[in-house]
Amino acid sequence: MAPNAPTALQPFGIDFGGTGIKGAPVDLDAGEFAAERVRIKTPAPSTPQRVAEVFVELLSQFPECTGAVGVTVPGVVRHGVVRSAANIDKSWIDTDADRLFTEATGREVHVVNDADAAGFAEVRYGAARGRSGLVIVTTLGTGIGSAMVHDGVLIPNSELGHLEIDGHDAESRAANSAREREDLSWEHWAKRLTTYYRTLEKLFSPELFVVGGGVSKSSAEFLPLLDLDTEIIPAALLNKAGVVGAALYASEGGG
Ligand code: BGC
Repeated sequence: MAPNAPTALQPFGIDFGGTGIKGAPVDLDAGEFAAERVRIKTPAPSTPQRVAEVFVELLSQFPECTGAVGVTVPGVVRHGVVRSAANIDKSWIDTDADRLFTEATGREVHVVNDADAAGFAEVRYGAARGRSGLVIVTTLGTGIGSAMVHDGVLIPNSELGHLEIDGHDAESRAANSAREREDLSWEHWAKRLTTYYRTLEKLFSPELFVVGGGVSKSSAEFLPLLDLDTEIIPAALLNKAGVVGAALYASEGGG
């Protein structure tokens, strides 16, 4: 067998995002894709039922993989049930996604918050590998996602993007979508991020912040402008974090 060929028992990770649904089997020793990733456009509207159909199509392209499947969702997930939908179709709220996707695909599916998946992967394989104490991973995208990991253990559904700061939902001011929407300079955005991360420092005194999301590719433009007491570094896994983290989560039997 080729070193990179997927094996039946490897878990499969699916990253459900606003524009694309991406999936690949994952090699958990390496924290890498075990085969080339497949991407399918996110249906509109992205209701749970339509998304389930895409998962079936995606998995049918990997007939040799029969292991557990992990799926990221940008909302609170408790015992497989989605409990919030800030930036996705509201029909997700109260959907038993574990059950829906397990029935649709005939596979054991575990759903996890998108930032929790990314954070879990960064701590296991990426920027925060081997770090102890409290690590807070934030993803700066359409919203702000957060993962709190303490000594390698994920504390799920922290939802720190929705802290109220100066009377605003934090993500409405400091997410990357706010920077784009308001055409903010890096300097201006960095001021907002400083306010945001200083609030997190005050509340949690973490050892380390890790910054993920698509904009972390440009971290050299804004991270040096932040004025914080805590070390802050870019994520390492970039757009692999969701798929790898979801597969890792599923391999551990979900939450
Ligand atoms: C949601 C979170 C999600 C984050 C990033 C927020 O609006 O409430 O659950 O992790 O966006 O997608």
